[in-house]
Amino acid sequence: MPRISLAFFTVAALCGLTGMGWGTFMGATQHFELAPAHAHLNLLGWVSLSIMGGFYALVGGPPNRLLGWVNFTLSAAGVIVLTPMLALLLAGNEKTIGPMMPFPELTVILGMLCFIANVLLAWRKPAGAVAA
Ligand code: HEM
Repeated sequence: MPRISLAFFTVAALCGLTGMGWGTFMGATQHFELAPAHAHLNLLGWVSLSIMGGFYALVGGPPNRLLGWVNFTLSAAGVIVLTPMLALLLAGNEKTIGPMMPFPELTVILGMLCFIANVLLAWRKPAGAVAA
């Protein structure tokens, strides 16, 4: 498996574990105010990062290696920064956190754009080809 996929799966699994622990805590305490932040950690972290890592494994590594690592950096950093900021926002800090939200939002969007660029570059590979 390409190392970039291992990197994606490592961060994804840590997000998944944290998200599950968070969900368990919400259920135990019956405090659901931060449920959307829990959902974003699970869906941007566990699910989206796993899909990206899985794609790079399936095509035998990112068609453009640098773009792949930029994708990983932006997508992983984005979810790690966005989730606590969203939790703070939901906890009633709209005035302070609200104006800063576009930064992590833009980070995850740029990460997705890098991923899309690599998906499109993969079309240039011959069918069935698996690069190292
Ligand atoms: C141990 C695992 C998990 C536990 C205990 C858990 C628990 C919870 C709880 C208590 C809520 C709030 C429900 C409410 O507001 O009534 C919730 C919401 C949610 N969870 Fe989880 N969850 C877990 C894993 C996951 C995973 C793996 C995902 C996605 C991949 C996920 C996605 C969501 C979504 C989308 C919501 C709705 C958020 C919203 O209403 O804004 N959860 N979860």
